[in-house]
Amino acid sequence: MRIPIIAPSVLSADFSSMDDGVALIGSSGAEWVHLDVMDGCFVPNISFGPKMVADLRPHTSKIFDAHLMVQNPANFIDSFAQAGADYITFHLEAAVHSHRILQAIHEKGKKAGISIVPSTPVSLIEPLLPFVDLILVMTVNPGYGGQPIIPECFGKVRDLVTLREAGRGDYLISVDGGINESTAPAAREAGVDIMVVGSAFFSAADKGALVRRLKGLE
Ligand code: DX5
Ligand code: ZN
Repeated sequence: MRIPIIAPSVLSADFSSMDDGVALIGSSGAEWVHLDVMDGCFVPNISFGPKMVADLRPHTSKIFDAHLMVQNPANFIDSFAQAGADYITFHLEAAVHSHRILQAIHEKGKKAGISIVPSTPVSLIEPLLPFVDLILVMTVNPGYGGQPIIPECFGKVRDLVTLREAGRGDYLISVDGGINESTAPAAREAGVDIMVVGSAFFSAADKGALVRRLKGLE
């Protein structure tokens, strides 16, 4: 079984000292920084925009995994690419022309991801599998950290592993929402490549030990 990448979400960090939150990620052994962008329209919450990403960029060399929970994501690709995002992931449910947006992300030299909410079946993204670098399977309804996981969503991870093994695409599979020490084993079992962790990470006393446990290393 593969050892997953850990991507702590700064949504659960202290916004008044976000650089400290990124530093905590840096020293924990986690590999990515998950940046939850919320517009108050696609999800009922507001977080931050591209300037936050740009301001955090000089503070770490880790992969910036931008999760755009916004309406009209096509309007924001340039600004998040310019800000220094490495992966730019948008929601299938927020766009009509998803293939075109994936192209636009690649034209900026960035990795392109697509995310699906719990009610969206994998079948709806099958036509896009050859064009994506990452699929973000939401395991909670997007908008907030600290929610309980919807374990039924792990079935989508298994489906995506099967589709990848069948040659339908070459993408990473990430899960996002409600991931912690008790839910991580099921995520690993399902076959995830990446785990996004927000509240469990920033509430952990020993973040390094948590990361190792999420990876199944101790
Ligand atoms: C929810 C966000 C998640 C969230 C994860 O809309 O996309 O990334 O911050 O937080 P936890 O791990 O606390 O569920
Ligand atoms: Zn997220």
